[in-house]
Amino acid sequence: MSLNTVIGCESCKTSIGRKGCFLHSGNWISISKEDIKSAPNSTTPIKPTDTPRKEWEEKTEDINMTPTTPLPEEKKKIILDLCGGTGAWSRPYKEAGYDVRLVTIPEHDVRKYEPPDNVYGILAAPPCTDFSVSGAQYWKVKDKDGRTIDSMGIVMACLMIIAKAQPKFWVMENPVGRLVHWIGKPKLTFNPCDYGDPYTKKTYLWGIFNELKQIPVKPIRVSSQGSWVQRLGGKSAKTKELRSITPVGFANAFFKANQ
Ligand SMILES: C[S@@+](CC[C@H](N)C(=O)[O-])C[C@H]1O[C@@H](n2cnc3c(N)ncnc32)[C@H](O)[C@@H]1O
Repeated sequence: MSLNTVIGCESCKTSIGRKGCFLHSGNWISISKEDIKSAPNSTTPIKPTDTPRKEWEEKTEDINMTPTTPLPEEKKKIILDLCGGTGAWSRPYKEAGYDVRLVTIPEHDVRKYEPPDNVYGILAAPPCTDFSVSGAQYWKVKDKDGRTIDSMGIVMACLMIIAKAQPKFWVMENPVGRLVHWIGKPKLTFNPCDYGDPYTKKTYLWGIFNELKQIPVKPIRVSSQGSWVQRLGGKSAKTKELRSITPVGFANAFFKANQ
């Protein structure tokens, strides 16, 4: 490896860890420092460690994600994944044979979406860019130029769908921020490391759902603020998407508790 290359994740070009970043396991390659676009302020590889991942794998061994009997088409429970992006949150439901409807742009806009009959559960993850505390310095400008209200429109559209569909359970997610001013206190606050993914990103959950079983692991510090999420800077759509992907451990824990 030359002086200008480091070991990094083939998929997202971050240089944190050894076996694959926490989102894309197993795809580490030697990449040039210029290529690490998503972590522009920090190109030094962090001392590799895979202990927390191992710890998680051991702790989650007992979780059986396979359905015992496949359901016939007409009996499949409908799950709406509103503003679902990559579909990472609803993936355990999909893999277990539920009828998952990914309602996300560009294919579907929640502001124009009519829910079907017999919705069983709703997961909602409206964009947090205009609410999250990490962007607090822009709130005033966004209030003035209309972005706050536009984003609130998406939150309201999700709540309208929930009210129309009246599912057995529903949940709305957003990172710590000012949404509490308008939709009240969350039911639960968590970090991904509470459910096995070794990083922090304080996140709120509102809704009506069953308690999740925690699988706590130690978060790995990879930046002065803590997790790789803060280190993954940049305004590109790609890095924004990476920052907002639902952590696998949380998605599995949520599925286990709400079926
Ligand atoms: C916070 S991210 C959700 C990420 C998701 N949990 C995942 O694991 O990929 C919000 C998503 O909502 C989508 N989105 C933004 N505006 C939308 C709209 N009006 N209707 C539906 N989806 C929208 C964005 O494209 C983005 O993928």
